[in-house]
Amino acid sequence: MSLLSIQDLSKNFGGLAAVSNVNIELENNELVGLIGPNGAGKTTLFNLLTGVYVPSSGEVKMTTEKGEVLLNGKEPSVINELGLARTFQNIRLFGNLTVLDNVLVALHTKHGANFWASVLRTPSFYRNRQELEERAIELLRIFNLQDLVKEKAKNLPYGQQRRLEIVRALATEPKILFLDEPAAGMNPNETAELTELIRQIQKDFDITVVLIEHDMSLVMNVCERIYVLEYGKLIAHGTPSEIQQNPAVIKAYLGGE
Ligand SMILES: Nc1ncnc2c1ncn2[C@@H]1O[C@H](COP(=O)(O)OP(=O)(O)OP(=O)(O)O)[C@@H](O)[C@H]1O
Ligand SMILES: [Mg+2]
Repeated sequence: MSLLSIQDLSKNFGGLAAVSNVNIELENNELVGLIGPNGAGKTTLFNLLTGVYVPSSGEVKMTTEKGEVLLNGKEPSVINELGLARTFQNIRLFGNLTVLDNVLVALHTKHGANFWASVLRTPSFYRNRQELEERAIELLRIFNLQDLVKEKAKNLPYGQQRRLEIVRALATEPKILFLDEPAAGMNPNETAELTELIRQIQKDFDITVVLIEHDMSLVMNVCERIYVLEYGKLIAHGTPSEIQQNPAVIKAYLGGE
């Protein structure tokens, strides 16, 4: 059994089949790409896997220490606790909280204290505050954000906000990290740095990373294998070089948008 097994998964919005009979297997410790033209269903697939949407049909099963768990219909927070974390195509941070607090809130989710305890700084919050703060700064350092801890998240430039989102996702100690266009809006330097970071965290944290990205050089550079969606259906799966030569993929991109 794979770490995550996606079987015949579909999502319809009215008459539109946004995701249609998709089958994907994710193993431990790999870096997988998910590509496809605009509107192909990539974000919808992430939303199905992380509990934002309930599938119209099909199954998502995860292998955990306690055996196989069906994720269909589970709340996003439950799915997060089981080990799936994600970033959003449209950045979702607490804009008015500091960089540090944004990470602390995510760490607290993992370590049992609630959101308000961390924002309002109740006594239970102070008990392990220092420990969590050290961990938060450790994570921020990986993404070179450690000097910005006191800055409000909304004041960070776009590229740094995207990196902060990844830190928040990592803080929940995922087994699988889903990144939805992490390089969107970044300049080539930032993209190159991010490419290295994604490679590094996948190895160092011993996790599986699934990457949606329109920047083909990033995808081809870091992914071991790639799935391609078009109009909700999987049209190809293979190594970067197989995907680059696949006639259906070339047609989807040339004929696509
Ligand atoms: N909540 C929704 N209600 C209705 N239609 C939706 C909803 N979410 C997505 N769709 C539609 O489903 C299809 C797939 O959208 P999705 O956002 O998953 O594509 P995508 O591959 O992530 O595209 P992009 O590369 O532009 O981000 C699109 O036609 C979109 O308009
Ligand atoms: Mg999308």
